[in-house]
This record gives sequence, structure tokens and C-alpha cells, in this order.
Amino acid sequence: MANLKGSERAQYVQGMFARIASRYDLMNRIMTLGQDVRWRAEVIRRAALKPGEMVLDLGAGTGDLAGEALRRLPQCRVVAADFTLAMMQAGKQRPGAVSIDWSGADAQNLPFPDQVFDAVVSGFLLRNVSDLTASLREQHRVLRPGGRMVALDTTRPPQSLLSPLINFHLHTMIPWLGRLVAGDSDAYTYLPDSTAGFLTAEQLASRMAAAGFHQVGFKRLMFGTIAIHWGIK
Ligand SMILES: C[S@@+](CC[C@H](N)C(=O)[O-])C[C@H]1O[C@@H](n2cnc3c(N)ncnc32)[C@H](O)[C@@H]1O
Repeated sequence: MANLKGSERAQYVQGMFARIASRYDLMNRIMTLGQDVRWRAEVIRRAALKPGEMVLDLGAGTGDLAGEALRRLPQCRVVAADFTLAMMQAGKQRPGAVSIDWSGADAQNLPFPDQVFDAVVSGFLLRNVSDLTASLREQHRVLRPGGRMVALDTTRPPQSLLSPLINFHLHTMIPWLGRLVAGDSDAYTYLPDSTAGFLTAEQLASRMAAAGFHQVGFKRLMFGTIAIHWGIK
């Protein structure tokens, strides 16, 4: 996977998420010990939505962030976009999914006009896109001036005394759980591998600034293995 680029990488990513779609949510809850629910709540809090605003959950998958946005602010209009239809189909079975506008879309070439969204949020997307610059530019384009971007993803943890334990969890426990719960250890080997191959949290913040975002910042969670990044157009 590490050497795949462009459309080959996109096909690999789509195929993998299509295979694990039906077990994706359960696997998230198990491998994060339920903590992802809190992280998603923080992403939506940081998106600072107001009644009537429009938010895009990009790379929405089964729509966890979209659902959290609606729970927090039922008066919002929520669009969930992804290029793996099987993930969105799994999401559509969930309670409340009918209130979400689901859209097939490539994060690098969005089918939305300029400046329509008040916020763009994403969960575990950025590490997966083949062209990060294109995706950041597209998020910037569809946001109105003053709109907020908030992204949650795994990130390379700084070295610490906990590193051996963290590495054991990432490289042994998660693929093992992936085989047991989702029947697919490859997809859950991809997770630590793609995290190791991705930018550091600092580098991602610089790329967001280069794409035109202001007031860019980030915080680390879960022993430094997770980061929430934010910025304003
Ligand atoms: C790890 S899942 C995250 C799902 C959900 N956002 C969450 O927080 O759990 C990554 C999602 O990003 C989607 N994705 C990856 N690359 C994409 C792209 N270029 N365009 C649209 N969706 C993409 C995948 O199809 C997958 O559903």
C-alpha cells in the first residue's frame, strides 16, 4: 500500500472501506475503548455551528460526525460526502440518518459550489486521500469566508516512555482485533502503516496554512496518537 499513488491508492482505499463497512463502527468503538465518541463531540464543538448553518462531513463514511452535528444542533443542515458507497449505505441504516444529505463525492474534487458551507469537518480522512493539497484546497473553496475546518485523524505520537506500549497496541493489537471483529487484518494493518507514512501534526498544520487557512492549530489526544486540527477561511 505504502507505494501506491493516485488512482491506484484511491481504489485500494475504496476497496478496503467497502470490505469493512458493516463492522466499521463496532471496530472503532472497540479499538478506541469508546473514546472516539468524545473526540467526535469535540470536533463538532470546535466547528462552532449555529442554528441554520450548513456543515459538510467529508469522508463521512458511516456518518458519525454528521450524526453528532445533528444531535448537537438539529437545526443545522448536514451533508455527508464520501467516495465509498458501501460505507454510506451502512450509515444510512443508523437512527437519524434520514436527516442527513448523503452525497457520493471525491474529497479532491468536490461536487459543491464555492463558499456554501459554514463548516467542513472530517474524521480519519486526510491520511487516506491521495492528494492532500487538492483536498485541503477543495475544503477551503467550499467554505464561506470565516468558515471553520476541523479534522480528526490518527497521528504519529512523539517518542516517550509509553512508545513500546503504544507500538504494541498499534501494530499488534489493532490488526489482531481487525481480524477478529472485522474479519480483515489487512485493513487494520493499513491504519498504523498509513499513520506512520503520513505527515506529523506540525507538518499537517503547515499544509493547512499553505492551503489558505488562518488561525491554524491542533491538539493531541490519546497519548499523542490522535490529533484534532482546525483552521478558519
Ligand atoms: C477511516 S474512514 C472515516 C469515516 C468517518 N469519517 C469516521 O470518522 O469514522 C475514511 C473514509 O474516508 C473515505 N475517503 C478516503 N478517501 C476519500 C476521497 N478521496 N474522497 C472521499 N472519501 C474518501 C473512505 O471512503 C472512508 O469512508
